[in-house]
Amino acid sequence: MTTDKKPPSSSSLRGRMKKVRVKTGKKRTVSSARWLERQLNDPYVKQAQESGYRARSVFKILEIDDKVKAMKPGAIVVDLGSTPGSWTQVAVERVKSLASKGRVIATDILPMEPIPGSEFLQMDFTANDAVEKLLTLLDGKKADVVLSDMAANTTGQRSVDHINTVYLVELAWDFARQVLDKDGVFIAKVFQGGTEKNLLGQFKKAFTAVKHMKPAASRKESPELYVVCTGFKGESDSEG
Ligand SMILES: C[S@@+](CC[C@H](N)C(=O)[O-])C[C@H]1O[C@@H](n2cnc3c(N)ncnc32)[C@H](O)[C@@H]1O
Repeated sequence: MTTDKKPPSSSSLRGRMKKVRVKTGKKRTVSSARWLERQLNDPYVKQAQESGYRARSVFKILEIDDKVKAMKPGAIVVDLGSTPGSWTQVAVERVKSLASKGRVIATDILPMEPIPGSEFLQMDFTANDAVEKLLTLLDGKKADVVLSDMAANTTGQRSVDHINTVYLVELAWDFARQVLDKDGVFIAKVFQGGTEKNLLGQFKKAFTAVKHMKPAASRKESPELYVVCTGFKGESDSEG
């Protein structure tokens, strides 16, 4: 679980560490050495571990939610693509679900170690019955926030990766528009220059504000961005 230690701001993390070098060898390929070196030299990895968070991506949601203040005490949050669970940890803390206010429902195709204060469903979100299972868990209640950090495994082929990612965002949005309460917030990982045009048009129609954010913890070389949609107008206004 998380400690009481507050994670430092993203900007204060840059430029603090001494660089560690990792050698390649019989048991370590060049790419695995490079990965390890990047992990060891990454201040976000170190700080996430020290603060008791499960992944460096925690700093992305902290930065985004500090700006939009979506996860308020008592809120209902659905976290799509939650494993290993750092966004779920933040959601539990912010909605105070352990103090029986608020609810956090997390789901991933991979297993996730339990996080007290959250409920977890292991399933493929692209499966036909995925939405139904989440609706059953919600038991007729609306959600205040839908998060999607889902990322399809990259194939190395940009066009294929693009299609796979857009598909996951479309599915997340299709779910979000069914469950979001009025004024609800939808935050999703998108790639390659922002949200696909047709989807972006739908978001602009359905929410009062839509913007793209690249949190400081998102690696510069990664095409990843987040679309942050606030002020859901209601299901009937989101068709199209
Ligand atoms: C970047 S990770 C999420 C990290 C998480 N937000 C955290 O901070 O701990 C993306 C997740 O999306 C999940 N994912 C990818 N495709 C999925 C699918 N079709 N259904 C459910 N989860 C999926 C992956 O298994 C992976 O755990």
